[in-house]
Amino acid sequence: MSNRGNFSGQIGFILAATGSAVGLSNIWRFPYLTGQNGGAVFLIIYVLCIFLFCFPVLVGEIAIGRAGGKDAYGSYKKLGNKKWGWLGLGGIISGIFILSYYNLVAGWAFGYFFEIVFFSALSETDHAGFFSSFISNMSSSFIYAFVFLFLTAACVVQGIQKGIEKLNKILMPSLLIVLLGLIAYALTLPRAMEGITFYLVPDFSAITKQTLFDALRLSFFTLSIGVGGLITYGSYLDKGQNIVRSSAIVTMSDTTVAFLAGLMIFPLVFSAGKSPTEGPALVFIVLPEIFKGMGPLLGRIVGGAFFLLLCFATLSSCVSLLELAIAYFIDEKKLPRKKIVWIVAAVIFIIGIPSTLSFGDYPIFNKLSFYKDRDFFTLVADVTDISLTVGGCLMCLFIRNRWKMVNLNQELTFGNPGFPGSFVQRYINFAIGYLCPTLLAVLSALIIIDKIFGI
Ligand code: TRP
Repeated sequence: MSNRGNFSGQIGFILAATGSAVGLSNIWRFPYLTGQNGGAVFLIIYVLCIFLFCFPVLVGEIAIGRAGGKDAYGSYKKLGNKKWGWLGLGGIISGIFILSYYNLVAGWAFGYFFEIVFFSALSETDHAGFFSSFISNMSSSFIYAFVFLFLTAACVVQGIQKGIEKLNKILMPSLLIVLLGLIAYALTLPRAMEGITFYLVPDFSAITKQTLFDALRLSFFTLSIGVGGLITYGSYLDKGQNIVRSSAIVTMSDTTVAFLAGLMIFPLVFSAGKSPTEGPALVFIVLPEIFKGMGPLLGRIVGGAFFLLLCFATLSSCVSLLELAIAYFIDEKKLPRKKIVWIVAAVIFIIGIPSTLSFGDYPIFNKLSFYKDRDFFTLVADVTDISLTVGGCLMCLFIRNRWKMVNLNQELTFGNPGFPGSFVQRYINFAIGYLCPTLLAVLSALIIIDKIFGI
């Protein structure tokens, strides 16, 4: 046990879990989905989903990790049995696949940082054309993805305190400083207030089924729950720490970063007279156009800062996804961290090759006939998305039917003597016992129907 590593204390754990949570979904997906789904109403629904449904699942995951004291597979096996271990293993495999495509997008952000600051991306006249040629340029895509994964592995190889915790202690405050700087700048722009109005004054007529669906899916992804990443981080947490309070802080920090990202992006978008409904293109096409409009020097500074921010956020998420798999090999297979990190990273890079090729001129990867002619990247993203909600649902059933609620409550009482009998306890028990498994089962079915049958 002693040589597994552990976080130095509550702050280290909170920063690492926040680093895992804050990622592409806060700075890329949240703003574009808010833009597409009517602004403020989406924000409200998203925040409700996070606190009502995701927070209890987050608490449950961390508790399983701390009680099990091992990687995702080992913790389920120890608290349940070998069969439940398979749930942990499924999560680990899913995490590997998430990292294989997530790292590619992280590589794009990394590449954009260089293209904007050092090369001529801002002098382009056609930013949409630039983006599509950027992602279809296989050699640079592979190089950027490779370097990003290398950085991830270089951090994980250092272990929990010297690698993961130290990285997040630097990255998270830096991220906040850059973000606040960009917001301060965006708010001084003409017509910034139109962006703020769109973002903060709700128009309830904009709610559709899609709004609810998108908000729910995003909220599970953003907290990194469902695949056991937090079981792994929880296993490095000591018994004296208050899991409920730490989870609340992580949930709030993650939501705050998403909120701040919107507060930066919408004033920028509205002041440049652009539409917020561009979808995924918002960050890679609309923003560079706006940075260009600021002139060569200011555009480089603001644009460079923005993509640096995106890299900070994604690196700490990639680290948590890699650690999920590494912990398994260390705990279950007794392999040394120093070696296994590089091997697993290499395997993940190889698994990511078809996703990268999806954006090139390779019909075998970008037009899958068995998946409605969609590309391989989309297939991996969709399947792993389903694994989060299915994994979350099964985790709740595990706690309820196998590990039992009394054991969860006992685990949550360590470091938090006021927990038994509190309102929070009753809510968490109700949510994990009934609300979340039902909701997640329905949501999983809806995602499957939507993705596979397109209804
Ligand atoms: N939460 C991260 C984001 O918002 C992504 C992420 C990291 C993740 N670890 C995860 C998603 C584990 C699901 C499961 O970008």
